[in-house]
Amino acid sequence: MTTYGRFDDAAREYVISRPDTPLPWINYLGSEQYFGIISNTAGGYSFYRDARLRRLTRYRYNNVPPDVGGRYLYLRDQDSGEFWSPSWQPVRADLDDYRCRHGLGYTVIGGRRAGIDAESLYAVPLGETLEVWRTRLTNHRPGTAHLSLFSAVEFCLWDAWDDATNFQRNLSTGEVEVADDVIYHTTEYRERRNHFAYFACSAPLAGFDTQRDAFLGPYRGWDRPAVVETGRSTGSIAHGWAPCGSHQVALTLEPGEVRDVVFVLGYAENPADAKFDPPGSGRVDKRAVRRVLDRYLQPGEVEAAVERLRDQWRDLLDTLRVATPLDHVDRMVNIWNPYQCMVTFNLSRSASSFESGIGRGMGFRDSNQDLLGFVHMVPERARERILDIAATQLPDGGAFHQYQPLTKTGNDAAGTGFNDDPQWLVLAVTAYVKETGDRGILDEPVPYANVPGSETPLYEHLHRALGYTLDRLGPHGLPLIGRADWNDCLNLNCFSETPGESFQTTENRTGGVAESVFIGGLFTLAAGEAAALAAHLGQHDDASRWRAAARAMDAAVRAHGWDGAWFRRAYDYDGHPVGSAGNEEGRIYIEPQGMCVIAGIGLDDGKAAAALDSVAAELATPHGIMLLQPAYTRYHVELGEISTYPPGYKENAGVFCHTNPWVVIAETLVGRGDRALDYHLRTNPSAREGISDVHRCEPYVYAQMIAGRDAPTHGEAKNSWLTGAAAWNLIAITQWILGIRPDHDGLRIDPCLPAEWPGFSATRQFRGATYDITVTKLPGEQGRVSHLVVDGRRIEGTLVPPAPAGSTVSVVAEIEAPG
Ligand code: BGC
Ligand code: NOJ
Repeated sequence: MTTYGRFDDAAREYVISRPDTPLPWINYLGSEQYFGIISNTAGGYSFYRDARLRRLTRYRYNNVPPDVGGRYLYLRDQDSGEFWSPSWQPVRADLDDYRCRHGLGYTVIGGRRAGIDAESLYAVPLGETLEVWRTRLTNHRPGTAHLSLFSAVEFCLWDAWDDATNFQRNLSTGEVEVADDVIYHTTEYRERRNHFAYFACSAPLAGFDTQRDAFLGPYRGWDRPAVVETGRSTGSIAHGWAPCGSHQVALTLEPGEVRDVVFVLGYAENPADAKFDPPGSGRVDKRAVRRVLDRYLQPGEVEAAVERLRDQWRDLLDTLRVATPLDHVDRMVNIWNPYQCMVTFNLSRSASSFESGIGRGMGFRDSNQDLLGFVHMVPERARERILDIAATQLPDGGAFHQYQPLTKTGNDAAGTGFNDDPQWLVLAVTAYVKETGDRGILDEPVPYANVPGSETPLYEHLHRALGYTLDRLGPHGLPLIGRADWNDCLNLNCFSETPGESFQTTENRTGGVAESVFIGGLFTLAAGEAAALAAHLGQHDDASRWRAAARAMDAAVRAHGWDGAWFRRAYDYDGHPVGSAGNEEGRIYIEPQGMCVIAGIGLDDGKAAAALDSVAAELATPHGIMLLQPAYTRYHVELGEISTYPPGYKENAGVFCHTNPWVVIAETLVGRGDRALDYHLRTNPSAREGISDVHRCEPYVYAQMIAGRDAPTHGEAKNSWLTGAAAWNLIAITQWILGIRPDHDGLRIDPCLPAEWPGFSATRQFRGATYDITVTKLPGEQGRVSHLVVDGRRIEGTLVPPAPAGSTVSVVAEIEAPG
């Protein structure tokens, strides 16, 4: 709890108690086709499926004041002329009472001023392509209140990139229709678009506006619209310029009276040959929309929709529930971390306060990893996603680095040659099969580069993924890095001298020998997983081939990737080590320490523990583990983008949160539960809530980065929400510290707990059965589980065999003192 807000775990909400949070603290609406971001002061925007190509409303990124563009409401007292926004923004008039509750898929924002309370509930009902705002007004005054309520959204002209750049055209394209008090945004509908947006209100209108500048008045912003100030809508009809939607509702509220007003903002499509009503008229056929509006303009429907969202989330979160000694762990594992995983799975890196929705498609690497944190909740969607991603793999086993969600095809602009990409597919597929037991997916025909006719079974895609790395080994037997590996900014073949050039897509120099120790670790892990899968399928030749490949890579990493006290990061174009004691800057990097240990490299000869001790000594800070040290202080042309960031930011020695859970997992593999949990808590958002003034981002989700020790803003988080930190943190805490891990032959219970914990309990659904798990431990011990008691029967080892779907299994595990 801070002056900004608190967790309400029972309601599964974060409650914000003042509007001026250090940064806009946002939430997501929608989980299927229609999405939006919404800040605690009603800023944000909406889109249908693709944040770039089907943007419904405008938002001004990096604006001053921040967070402009939103789902705005204004209340005007018709007697005094005073006006304000119940969500504080955009008017920013003081409120006597302000609250925002971000829940799972919905947000409530309320404010009270001059005795009038207005609370809006915003949500996207399941199965619909629309959002509803239900505003509940209460008159707490002793006398009658005469009010006007104004709504306001600014429409985006669909393609958000064009909308923000191509003004010579787009200031002349805007069109709307207004019929039966519903505002239709119809730009380009007359020609090749078959979609439009609509904005409706449940109350009879006193007026409306659809031309932004008529609503705002000259030289005014959203904080002081002329229409609100005068209390009179103008009935403007947008022709070009900037179409907006604003309703005016006149309300007379008696003392104590409560009134609900509902707004619906939606997206609709009509068949290309039946767009107009009457045919050929040029007017939108509105019949389907009217049916939807008849339903959703009822206040009760909004509540029912939110109830359905709550039910859905209760079911999703029931897949895994834990009770540990720490609230920070419980609320992240039981509520917010899976929620963030769902958002990253849905949106990849497209739309947040930091991702503009116009830049990137879905990352091949990102989406495979996002799936790891999501697969247990909605395996059918994970299956579909795997097949989509695999279809963007190339015939040589490599991959398009990104693909577009609307078309599901690989994106040529971002290109290929990020040599780690294919290995993440192996990890995603094996995680899916372990979770579900669905071997059938391996037989699914999947094309390469989306080319029809090129299909092979998905299993063959794994062959080619592993083959891709084996076909590209450097002089040390380590994988060639290509454009980059997980670290997009370590560009060892790039040598960019041109300002502004993209490090990721620039023409690479050929002839070098840049190798990645990190991919060496990743490959060892992936090949081991593939071998386990093959063995499970009875494909013994593949199993032994992949096991041998993993062993050979493990040997190459030990021989050429070991620096003496930690794993090296890479070899550069000329074969010089990167991330080595001999380097002046960037002597040690986090990624290979985490990944090589996860792959099992050095567990038997002390290298793993030594590498992790080096991490503790060189990279760990109270705000998390930095990506590298010492930070690069000058531009190293041979390293690429990494040295472009000022020291302490992003890949240049920031705490890159995605990599921290790898070290957490690694610490559990060497049996150090204390250190694993300690690291976990350093970046756990809930555990950082108390330092919100330093951290600044939302205390309920992970950020991509926390500024490292070299930055003057050490501890400040940036780029919250859309990050691989979501999936990997959930995996680290649940599968490795708590140790509840799906495996091919059952559910593994192999925790590695901190000494002072007395144990924990958990409920996990796995392949249709429910496992009630209790882990006990004598305080002070850091040992492991050696046997389980399953429904009263002792089983040696840590694997609970799968139980019939529908059954409930009791599992008791006792952690023994190390023997
Ligand atoms: C960022 C990376 C990111 C990459 C994506 C870089 O500027 O620093 O974190 O992965 O862009 O293209
Ligand atoms: C963000 C990118 O989305 C991800 O793919 C990459 O691994 C990290 N940045 C590190 O560069």
